[in-house]
Amino acid sequence: MPAITFIHPDGKSDRIETSDGESAMQAATRHGLDGILAECGGNAMCATCHVYVDAGWLARLPAIGDNEDALLDGTADARLPNSRLSCQIMITPELDGLVLRLPERQV
Ligand code: FES
Repeated sequence: MPAITFIHPDGKSDRIETSDGESAMQAATRHGLDGILAECGGNAMCATCHVYVDAGWLARLPAIGDNEDALLDGTADARLPNSRLSCQIMITPELDGLVLRLPERQV
């Protein structure tokens, strides 16, 4: 199964094994990762699953949808060019090794 790494604002990192068909947010919450709230449960309504995609991976992700784009304008921490909602990143074998940085805050 693909593994992805979350890097916390303090520089610590957590490498997480994903399961078939889950999103990066689902993998994070299944492992009890601090820093991803996911208040809406992955329905693209809350923007509390905000992550910064590490350089080099951004171009390998599917394009941002209109709804995700609108929600990213309401993130608690600054929206950057590499901001994404982790509930909208479906993990595929090609994303093995993906690195996502967590913002300082989600609310
Ligand atoms: S979990 Fe709510 S927008 Fe991603």
